[in-house]
Amino acid sequence: MGYKDVYEAWQANPEAFWMEAAQAIDWDKAPSKALFDENAPLYEWFSDGMVNTCWNAVDRHVEGGRADQVAVIYDSPITGRQEKITYAQLKDRVASLAGALVAKGVTKGDRVIIYMPMVAEALVAMLAVTRIGAVHSVVFGGFASNELAVRIDDAQPKAIIAASCGLEPGRIVPYKPLLDGAIELSAHKPDFTLILQREEHPAELIPGRDFDWNEAQQGVAPADCVPVEGNHPAYILYTSGTTGQPKGVIRHTGGHLVALNWTMKNLYNVDPGEVFWAASDVGWVVGHSYITYGPLIAGNTTIVFEGKPIGTPDAGTFWRVISEHNVKSFFTAPTAFRAVKREDPKGEFVKKYDLSCLKQVYLAGERADPDTIVWAQDQLKVPVIDHWWQTETGFAIAANPLGIEELPVKLGSPSVPMPGFQVDILDEGGHPMPAGELGAIAIKLPLPPGTLPTLWNAEDRFKKSYLNTFPGYYETGDAGYKDEDGYVYIMARTDDVINVAGHRLSTGAMEEVLASHPDVAECAVIGVTDQLKGQLPLGLVCLNAGADRPDAEVTAECVKLVREKIGPVAAFKLCAVVDRLPKTRSGKILRATMVSIADGKEYKMPATIDDPAILDEIREALSDMGYSKA
Ligand code: COA
Ligand code: AMP
Repeated sequence: MGYKDVYEAWQANPEAFWMEAAQAIDWDKAPSKALFDENAPLYEWFSDGMVNTCWNAVDRHVEGGRADQVAVIYDSPITGRQEKITYAQLKDRVASLAGALVAKGVTKGDRVIIYMPMVAEALVAMLAVTRIGAVHSVVFGGFASNELAVRIDDAQPKAIIAASCGLEPGRIVPYKPLLDGAIELSAHKPDFTLILQREEHPAELIPGRDFDWNEAQQGVAPADCVPVEGNHPAYILYTSGTTGQPKGVIRHTGGHLVALNWTMKNLYNVDPGEVFWAASDVGWVVGHSYITYGPLIAGNTTIVFEGKPIGTPDAGTFWRVISEHNVKSFFTAPTAFRAVKREDPKGEFVKKYDLSCLKQVYLAGERADPDTIVWAQDQLKVPVIDHWWQTETGFAIAANPLGIEELPVKLGSPSVPMPGFQVDILDEGGHPMPAGELGAIAIKLPLPPGTLPTLWNAEDRFKKSYLNTFPGYYETGDAGYKDEDGYVYIMARTDDVINVAGHRLSTGAMEEVLASHPDVAECAVIGVTDQLKGQLPLGLVCLNAGADRPDAEVTAECVKLVREKIGPVAAFKLCAVVDRLPKTRSGKILRATMVSIADGKEYKMPATIDDPAILDEIREALSDMGYSKA
């Protein structure tokens, strides 16, 4: 069967399609049906089945003949350490940690926040939590205390599992002070924390609250897998919305298992036993789906890479890891390839390694620019597949499903909708647009298994953010078009979300931080185009009357404040003082116009602009920062 047959089979009978896919999962009690639509427009999948995530990702492989197969390879060019963990060893480690959590009172449904760098223990922690039916929420290590505190207050975790530190090239990031600061800031307090002490920077533990990862496991009985309902949350993952309050995307257990398992062969073209590597971070959805769960559910070997595409130690790191660990499918962000390409345009490092094991490469997280794809194709001589998805969907909405059929690659397009997703381009009134015309990208409800059923503690926000604009559809927040062959093109966001080095960030959240500076009267943060990172945030601030400090002093403080409040990952380094911000007569700040000016693009003077002269001042400020060079 080719792609078209598979897609049409899904369209003709989604229920049969997903029930068949569900057979690849070990259920404690099989679900009676796939879709539960009683509460439409809220949908659930496999709700009445009983199942455990960890059993499917670990134990069943041990029982099924993969006990001695390597499940996880930890490779850290930063520490120089490597470790290989078999499925049998992984099971023991996970069961032991799960036992420690149980001994401390964590039970089914309790939330556990995980704040860890790219070490194998991060996967052990995730699996230990799902093993006992608790719900994890992993927080990316590049977020600062305040962001962690917001997540603690929303998820209300019983426990937090953290490492003593993370390692960035040339810099140790002590996590414990960030964790302590977050717990101090949050209204909700966890009962306890478990701390993985790393030799690079052990942390001081607070007696009675903080427990050592190893000591907590001594003398406790390993915990067994706890079967949970198909609609029990496996995890919550917070992602940026338009405000400073992140959205808690929920992933239900049953659909998550079924959908991810389906993608490993059909999309990523790996069979059980083969090595799959996603060079992302467990703090992002790519890390959840394709470092931890997808590959393990399907019985692959996954790689936990603690390093960067360049500088650890050089632009050949990716190729070294692929060659050394026999990687068949590799997944990364376009920005990572842009970084490598910049250092090694001719691919001198590529030539140093035997990459015959590598059969295909996947890119996602941001728009894949044609130059980068062509460079990767030329260097690696394998299909380079752009695919489009979001934290909300948990797996690809559009892709080129190599395991089914290799479709022609069209540069600039992440190819075609995957089974489960009917992708339509809508005009403002919600009417489908003809091929080639730009509109809002929406997905016909119900979304498939494995996608978000709602937001944690925020059903109204879920409906408002995703369902209300186009009744009967899920609004992706992306704009684009489809061509005559049904290929999708993702052109821009329709909201205030920007994409910095494949990381999704909210300009609204940064504006909230800037507005808290005592000298700032009002501000705007826009995403300007950057050659390496795709976009960079740039802040324009107006100062309070009477603020007579030098502009440079205030902007330096603004930069520091965003780093402290959101974290280094925001990469907020561009900030300027302006007298006024351009607005419409009704007071709406004209961010899109400023983005066009910064990027040197043509723009139409908005008819509703209050005072066109302000744009000249903005142009000058942007030009001083190296932007606005048409
Ligand atoms: N913990 C603490 N700090 C972190 C961090 C973490 N887990 N991850 C990033 N940071 C810090 C970095 O050290 C950097 O700090 P600095 O301002 O002191 O230099 C800052 O956050 C910005 O990081 P980043 O955006 O990663 O930029 P970079 O300049 O260090 O590296 C790239 C540039 C392109 C190499 C890098 O962004 C990259 O590898 N991107 C790929 C992203 C990716 O895989 N995304 C997953 C989606 S699929
Ligand atoms: P995240 O939730 O962090 O995965 O970010 C999702 C957003 O990243 C999407 O809504 C898009 O705006 C963007 N994105 C992800 N993958 C792609 C892609 N292949 N092409 C274009 N944009 C993408």
